[in-house]
Amino acid sequence: MHTIVIGGTGHVGTYLVPRLVEAGHNVTVVSRGRRDPYTPHGSWRSVHHVTLDRAGDEAKGTFGAQIRDLKPDIVIDMICFTLESAQHLVEALRGHLEAFLHCSTCWVHGNTVTVPVTEDQPRRPIGDYGARKAAIEAYLHREARRTGFPETCILPGHIVGPGWVPLNPQANFNPDVYSRLAQGEPVALPNAGQELVHHVHADDVAQLFVQAIENWNAAVGESFHAVSPAALTLRAYAEAVASWFGAKAHLSFQPFDAWRASVSERDADATWGHLEHSPNCYSIAKPQRLLDYRPRYSSLQAVREAVSWLIEHDIVKA
Ligand SMILES: NC(=O)c1ccc[n+]([C@@H]2O[C@H](COP(=O)([O-])OP(=O)(O)OC[C@H]3O[C@@H](n4cnc5c(N)ncnc54)[C@H](OP(=O)(O)O)[C@@H]3O)[C@@H](O)[C@H]2O)c1
Repeated sequence: MHTIVIGGTGHVGTYLVPRLVEAGHNVTVVSRGRRDPYTPHGSWRSVHHVTLDRAGDEAKGTFGAQIRDLKPDIVIDMICFTLESAQHLVEALRGHLEAFLHCSTCWVHGNTVTVPVTEDQPRRPIGDYGARKAAIEAYLHREARRTGFPETCILPGHIVGPGWVPLNPQANFNPDVYSRLAQGEPVALPNAGQELVHHVHADDVAQLFVQAIENWNAAVGESFHAVSPAALTLRAYAEAVASWFGAKAHLSFQPFDAWRASVSERDADATWGHLEHSPNCYSIAKPQRLLDYRPRYSSLQAVREAVSWLIEHDIVKA
């Protein structure tokens, strides 16, 4: 199988591309060539790289044909963010592919009704990002039903791995929160610390993409959550991080509007984005049942690996 990964050198591609190579795929990665995978792996030596700028080539109307001309059997699209972008690619690839996998997000759900959230719940996205991803997902599933376009959508939670800062117990990306917890310093959490965050290790997202390909009859036309087995409350998350370092978490709690004055505007906005999506708590019963998805990492195991990397690189002080 010739498999193209559009945007294959990022968080997920770092793990997905080696998994595909090991599974026997002939892999082409399409990117602008600006960055390398986070973790080296010998399998990259057998990967073909094609340098394209999706945004520029879409503006010229050539991107879809450029991908088709590479003659893929399977396309994995990691970096599609607008309906127009999805439509452009689907129109070019229709009739030429065995499988098309779109990387979506759990945030297509937005305002949830019951938890854990299942893939079949009506979409009520909150912000622009979730609304655009939901529109792409709805379009692809419509194309699968109406025209037989062979697609599936993978919906990750907060992606974690060594090399970047995970979503922290304040529900933002400030690495100092880990340092303060490690050193037993006070940390303020918004509200009662009971909002949920649902992480996933990037390698488990990669696992789900590969499982979808390997169980294609069950995957086609469907959406699947890619998350760890269970979401975390902010409070329990903070306490666990402190305990890794033999510290006790000194936590205080404030209503969000008061709490936001204690952090930067950027951190407060990131936190709010995650709080308003709470309960961030997604079911993996469907991919477990249909695709034999078996996440290797709990949320805390995934975060711990990422925080170890931050300590080794002097970004977090233990
Ligand atoms: N991060 C999360 O927590 C999270 C959660 C849920 C869902 N998601 C979804 O995950 C997907 C992103 O996956 P990721 O986090 O693995 O990606 P990523 O780390 O952001 O990496 C992006 C990849 O795309 C390439 N790229 C960026 N702009 C490009 C362009 N204009 N033309 C061609 N290549 C381009 C990058 O390489 P170059 O820079 O070298 O081009 C890189 O290979 C998105 O669909 C997002 O909605 C992310």
